[in-house]
Amino acid sequence: MDKNAIKTAAEILRDSGHIAVLTGAGISAESGVPTFRGEHGLWKQFRAEELATPEAFARDPKLVWEWYDWRRGIIAKVEPSRGHWTLAKWEEIFPEFTLITQNVDGLHAKAGSKNILELHGNIWKVRCTKEEAVTENYAVPLNEIPPACPVCGAMLRPHVVWFGESLDADLLGRAFGLSASCDVMLVIGTSAFVQPAASLPLRAAENGAKIIEINPAPTPLTSYADISLLGKAGEVLPAIDGLLQKE
Ligand code: APR
Repeated sequence: MDKNAIKTAAEILRDSGHIAVLTGAGISAESGVPTFRGEHGLWKQFRAEELATPEAFARDPKLVWEWYDWRRGIIAKVEPSRGHWTLAKWEEIFPEFTLITQNVDGLHAKAGSKNILELHGNIWKVRCTKEEAVTENYAVPLNEIPPACPVCGAMLRPHVVWFGESLDADLLGRAFGLSASCDVMLVIGTSAFVQPAASLPLRAAENGAKIIEINPAPTPLTSYADISLLGKAGEVLPAIDGLLQKE
């Protein structure tokens, strides 16, 4: 790990007034949750268009729910990573600190983060396909597949954003608002491919924010980053935190 880059990152964070963070699956990798595009990623084992699209759900809701039930079973057994814990701690010590995540695993909240925008939804929430009501459901395994709405009996769907679906307009508006107002955006554990999330750091950079990327591998964002820390979130974030403690 580049100690000078870590030191510079700590100095930038220390001097910032408003920090925004964008996370992706990589911050949960060290918890044991599979990423999507890495060598053992979910999209290497499964075909996204057969599991994570409205068409797939309409065609075979049982198959789609079996896949989500399997993912929920994995996530239920894991703990937040050192990266999640560090971000939760920073929310308490920095004056303005907002977390935007693409992850649906709920591990940021499990680590204690409160100020979270879950752009792609949450795997622990279900939505009635008839009434659109969203409720929490932590059953592992699910009591029935596909699960039925306890109110109206219609089929429930995962409250997550599938390919081809639009994100919640209010959440997205708030996320772009944060990109326009933050001094620093930390971009952690995302391959920076999937839109519109991947545009958030570019918008922040256009507005003069410093971009700090944390990822073991370069991404399409790396050339736009002021600092690219090539390492694991669970190692880099605690290293920065260690320097911040040496005020
Ligand atoms: N620490 C930090 N980053 C890591 C780590 C780690 N320990 N391990 C892997 N990474 C990085 C990988 O190098 C990769 O760039 O995390 C990134 C994971 O990329 P993806 O699997 O593409 O996940 P993500 O960017 O979150 O995908 C975005 O795509 O499939 C959709 O909706 C899904 O939210 C997801 C979106």
